[in-house]
Amino acid sequence: MVERKKGAIVNIGSGAAIVIPSDPLYAVYAATKAYIDQFSRCLHVEYKKSGIDVQCQVPLYVATKMASIRRSSFFVPSTDGYARAALRWIGYEPRCTPYWPHTLLWGLACSLPESVVDAWRLRFCLRIRKRGQLKDSSRKQE
Ligand SMILES: NC(=O)c1ccc[n+]([C@@H]2O[C@H](COP(=O)([O-])OP(=O)(O)OC[C@H]3O[C@@H](n4cnc5c(N)ncnc54)[C@H](OP(=O)(O)O)[C@@H]3O)[C@@H](O)[C@H]2O)c1
Repeated sequence: MVERKKGAIVNIGSGAAIVIPSDPLYAVYAATKAYIDQFSRCLHVEYKKSGIDVQCQVPLYVATKMASIRRSSFFVPSTDGYARAALRWIGYEPRCTPYWPHTLLWGLACSLPESVVDAWRLRFCLRIRKRGQLKDSSRKQE
């Protein structure tokens, strides 16, 4: 890319590190995503003059196996929907949220006090853990 003086690198971060102030019970995940964000930002500045665009995309929920979400919805795009939006953003900002309904949620998260978002997220993640523990124990009983 440096020799050709052009190229694009897209790294996938997460709203877990950028949009919400904390992601309790997902501490390692959120921390690695914060790393990717800053890593991408530094490379963006280093390589801008070489014609290489380094971008960190920050999605919120997308309907994938990892997120355990089967159906897409207005705020949760399918992989195709996300990819279509993602491609349009390559080469623009060093950090972006390509799927516009995610931008609305980002705005909402920023407008609330951090303590409120922290408390909501902790409750939300505790519920996910509880569901997982119940699934585990019923599997063991079977
Ligand atoms: N889905 C969301 O809501 C969401 C939100 C924010 C950010 N992200 C980010 O988006 C990226 C893609 O995730 P996704 O949601 O698309 O999940 P996904 O559909 O489950 O895909 C994850 C991919 O990573 C591969 N993978 C998992 N562990 C691996 C390992 N140890 N070594 C090599 N490959 C491995 C999987 O391979 P196999 O198919 O072979 O298992 C799969 O191709 C991730 O970086 C995630 O953090 C996702």
